[in-house]
This record gives sequence, structure tokens and C-alpha cells, in this order.
Amino acid sequence: MNDVHQLLFAHRSIRKYTDQAVDKELLRTLVQAGQAAATSSFLQGATVIRVRDPERRERIATLAGNQVHVRTAPEFLVLCADLKRPGSCCEQYNKPFAGDFTEHFIIATVDVALMAQNMVVAAEAAGLGVCYIGGIRNNPREISDLLKLPRGVYPVFGLCLGYPAQDPEVKPRLPLDVVLKEECYSDEGDAQRIAEYDEVVREYYRTRTGGGHGICWSEQVAGLLSEKSRPHMRQFLADQGFTMK
Ligand SMILES: Cc1cc2nc3c(=O)[nH]c(=O)nc-3n(C[C@H](O)[C@H](O)[C@H](O)COP(=O)(O)O)c2cc1C
Repeated sequence: MNDVHQLLFAHRSIRKYTDQAVDKELLRTLVQAGQAAATSSFLQGATVIRVRDPERRERIATLAGNQVHVRTAPEFLVLCADLKRPGSCCEQYNKPFAGDFTEHFIIATVDVALMAQNMVVAAEAAGLGVCYIGGIRNNPREISDLLKLPRGVYPVFGLCLGYPAQDPEVKPRLPLDVVLKEECYSDEGDAQRIAEYDEVVREYYRTRTGGGHGICWSEQVAGLLSEKSRPHMRQFLADQGFTMK
């Protein structure tokens, strides 16, 4: 394994941070590292908002499900899918705007994810810990108003950054053969592999939470996928101009 591989395999979300500030220049370098990611059709459909104001941060933390780390992280960024900026090129060149297809929504959202993950890897390489915050989609309208997001821009997730004040274990992932298939999709043999993996996850949670909840992966996912999940998103996206034609 080379150094980059080692770094990737050592990832774990960090939710407790020291008081050490993140150097402004380092932060700018991280966002530039994000910009260096591949971008669909060269659209560059992502915008990053750094939230510094304590009141605004406090409000976001509450809206994102009262997550303590959103409140306490030295840096908090909101990563937005942005079709407004590329859309304004149509105006400039006197072309009709048709950037409201589902495909454009996918392009911009994928751009955000690729940019973010580049930022995360760059941050971890600099000794920082990070935690993505999908919780901002609990109340996307309020978050968008707080950040003054115009039509054509939506908040995909937040990102907490800071120097780690905890050292959690790496969370075990599904066995490779469950995820990597040859030629065609097949789930043959996966039930057994997943059953074995479930025990690994159960043990991971048991030791990590001090004998607390020994839930397994399948049970956790069943809980998630058997309930409605942010049903407001469809209307919110439509209102923001992501009409999914
Ligand atoms: C898009 C996205 C949104 C997430 N949202 C949250 C969140 O709101 N709060 C949180 O504490 N963790 C959040 N996470 C972190 C995941 O829970 C975490 O990545 C997952 O459990 C795997 O653990 P690991 O990152 O330590 O390997 C999010 C992760 C992703 C990729």
C-alpha cells in the first residue's frame, strides 16, 4: 500500500475537535483541491460556503438536528449544487436556459460530491478530521434562506473540519466481493457474506459504544429504508429551480 492508499483506508468521521484553528490558507488550498476534481462536462457546478458567524452557525446546528459537532467544529462549510452560475452563461450568450432537467440535477450533485471528497482527502492528508453533515437537508428551506441561496442553488451537505480530539476506530465496510462484480450484476453468495459482515459490524458497535447498541449493518439499513426520508426534498428542489424535467 502506498501513502495515499493508507490515508484512504484510515478514514473515519471525526466529531470532536481541538480548539486549534484551521489556517485560512490551508482552508483555501483544500477548496482548490476540491476544484481539481473531475467535473461533468466542465460545468463546475459546485459552490462552497464557509460559515463563520456564530449565530448563523448556531442556527444551522439546530436546524441540522442539533448536532453538537456542527456547533463546535473550527470550520463549517456548506457544499451547494450550483446551476445558477453556469446558467448565467446562457444569458450572456443569448441562449434559452434549459438547465432544469433531471440530468442537470445529477451533474451538479455529482460535481459537489466529487469536489467534497477531494477536499476531505486533502484535509485528512493535512492532519484534519472531517464529518459530512447531511442533516442540513432536514430543513433545507431554512438553511437556504440563512445562506441566501438563489434559485438554481441547493445545499447538498455540510462539512465539519478541525483537528481531531478523538481517535475512533475505522468503521468496517462491506466485503469487497459484495460490492465488486465481474461483467454482470449478481448477488449470488452475498447473503452469507453480508451475514458474516453483520457480525463484524455488531462487534464494532459493541466495542465502540461500550457494550451499548450492538446493531448490525442490515438492521441499521432496514430501519433507514423502511421509513420516509426527508419527503420535503422533492418540493424543496422544485422550488429552488431543480424541476427534474
Ligand atoms: C453525505 C453524507 C452525509 C452525512 N451526514 C452526517 C450527519 O449529518 N451527521 C453525522 O454525524 N455524520 C454524517 N455522515 C457521516 C456518516 O455517518 C459516516 O460517514 C458513516 O457512518 C461511515 O463512518 P465513517 O465516515 O467513520 O467511516 C454523513 C456522511 C455522508 C457521506
